[in-house]
Amino acid sequence: MFKKVFILTIILMGLILVGDRVLFFRPEPVNLIEQNFLQGEISLPQPRHQSQTSVEEALLKRRSVREYRDEPLNLQEISQLLWAAQGITDPKRGFRTAPSAGALYPLRVYLMGEVEGLEIGMYRYNPDNHSLIKVGDKDLKRELAKAAFGQIWIEKAPVNIIFTGNYEITARRYGREKAPRYVYMEVGHAAQNVHLQAESLNLGTVVVGGFEIEKVREILGLPAEEEPLYIMPVGRKK
Ligand SMILES: Cc1cc2nc3c(=O)[nH]c(=O)nc-3n(C[C@H](O)[C@H](O)[C@H](O)COP(=O)(O)O)c2cc1C
Repeated sequence: MFKKVFILTIILMGLILVGDRVLFFRPEPVNLIEQNFLQGEISLPQPRHQSQTSVEEALLKRRSVREYRDEPLNLQEISQLLWAAQGITDPKRGFRTAPSAGALYPLRVYLMGEVEGLEIGMYRYNPDNHSLIKVGDKDLKRELAKAAFGQIWIEKAPVNIIFTGNYEITARRYGREKAPRYVYMEVGHAAQNVHLQAESLNLGTVVVGGFEIEKVREILGLPAEEEPLYIMPVGRKK
């Protein structure tokens, strides 16, 4: 009798444990960083939402900076700059740091260059996971500078943030005539965010719009539907 009760109790406990996982659908906890790494993504550190610099101070001090110290940036700084560019600030609705016509988000942000703790190469920012996806393993700053009529600050900066736009995304709702105008406005918002964020981190940057579009597209291996809009070299001020 005691033996039967003992065996039944063991079976019952087993069923409860299995049922708990199956019925309530609890997956094994997975380390997020590990998961992202497995999917080929590199998680960025969480961005900070506070600093010693007020918006007014950043606006007052912002200046185009074209000379940088020969030092790499670190991941925290990269996290902050990319978050300022296109980070998600309302996860429920997917809204971001910069406004977007119809919340369609036609911009993409790339990072090229040298960052502490990151292999040299080109990365695409994924706002959904606040992560980086490696899309190339070469540092093409020199080629990029050539395509920008020899603007040496692109080559000398430790990193370049590159904005591209996909007009088709915006055209689907607003038509082909309005779309480019809206996308240009959006890149202005996003680039100014990066400018102000850089100032708050005491980093220097400049927006570069002067380059040969097709050459830059080719160097970066961009898909046909993406047009390069701005290159922002970023580095420590001298
Ligand atoms: C649409 C646009 C394109 C620009 N293109 C370049 C460029 O190709 N190279 C560059 O060094 N600066 C470029 N700039 C930066 C301007 O030269 C700079 O903003 C201007 O001289 C005023 O200086 P400030 O930014 O320090 O106020 C560009 C600015 C804008 C708004």
